Amino acid sequence: MKRAAQFHRRSKHHGNYEFDKLCKANERLRPFVIRNDHGTESINFSDAEAVKQLNAALLCHFYELKYWDIPEGYLCPPIPGRAEYIHQIADLIEEDVNHKDKVTCLDIGVGANCIYPIIAASQYKWKCIGSDIDEVAVKNAEEIVYANEKLKNRVEIRHQVNSDNIFAGIIKKNERIDVTICNPPFYKSQAEALAATARKNKNLHKGKVESTAKNFGGTEGELFCEGGESKFISKMIKQSEKYGKNCGWFTCLVSREDHMKKFHKVFKSVNTREYKVIPMTFGNKKSRILAWRFAQ
Ligand SMILES: C[S@@+](CC[C@H](N)C(=O)[O-])C[C@H]1O[C@@H](n2cnc3c(N)ncnc32)[C@H](O)[C@@H]1O
Repeated sequence: MKRAAQFHRRSKHHGNYEFDKLCKANERLRPFVIRNDHGTESINFSDAEAVKQLNAALLCHFYELKYWDIPEGYLCPPIPGRAEYIHQIADLIEEDVNHKDKVTCLDIGVGANCIYPIIAASQYKWKCIGSDIDEVAVKNAEEIVYANEKLKNRVEIRHQVNSDNIFAGIIKKNERIDVTICNPPFYKSQAEALAATARKNKNLHKGKVESTAKNFGGTEGELFCEGGESKFISKMIKQSEKYGKNCGWFTCLVSREDHMKKFHKVFKSVNTREYKVIPMTFGNKKSRILAWRFAQ
């Protein structure tokens, strides 16, 4: 199956999906492999179970997991796109971190899928901490960690008990973290999330809307929060100031470019040493990483 995406040079996802190898890594993918209109092997990306089994296969094949699963309805992340964020972060910290074998990364909102710590710990051998407010997500992420020997000593999951807090209650006194990452809840409301899903499905079905079923899943807490990503990230920037000496870089994905104006204003209200925007493009999807740090 041909995918029109430009990936980072260290990405494991260049080229086409090799379904033979993927099915060997996860036999449960096999029943979902179909021939598409061009006669090449693919899956039906509108089928949540097919997408989940493809993900499990990718994680077992490329990141050597033994087990990966998510509870029904939880976000089933597109793996190649998620890996891009980690590669960009590896580039970002390259100049500053002289202990490459001992990088510590904090993932705010690790989710049930635990995707960023899996990729970062497997490919870069980083030590990862994943936080989340959702108890089901925390439990599932812990199950993934404990079921995979190679993650056990590298990934720690911490429950954020206060949803107003981003770093407080998670970063310990005198704890040193090289970089924080975050894929925040994007939408302001359920209506906004459903409208976006309908648009995505319309594209998948070549203009014909079949349903608003979320093929990549996502619970309410994963998809939206009060004020959407704009408020969440503004809060994160403000709260990061207190942890400026604990962390090297703070970073966050930003889906909407028009939110950047607001973040520039927020940066003026906190004493950052510098901030930058790292663009990410793959296929027709444009995204960006916002990165900032304080004087040490
Ligand atoms: C878009 S999901 C990201 C899940 C996963 N990292 C991924 O990329 O697929 C956002 C996550 O942030 C979590 N979250 C929301 N507020 C939070 C907070 N204050 N601290 C930690 N996690 C939070 C949600 O529960 C959800 O799991």
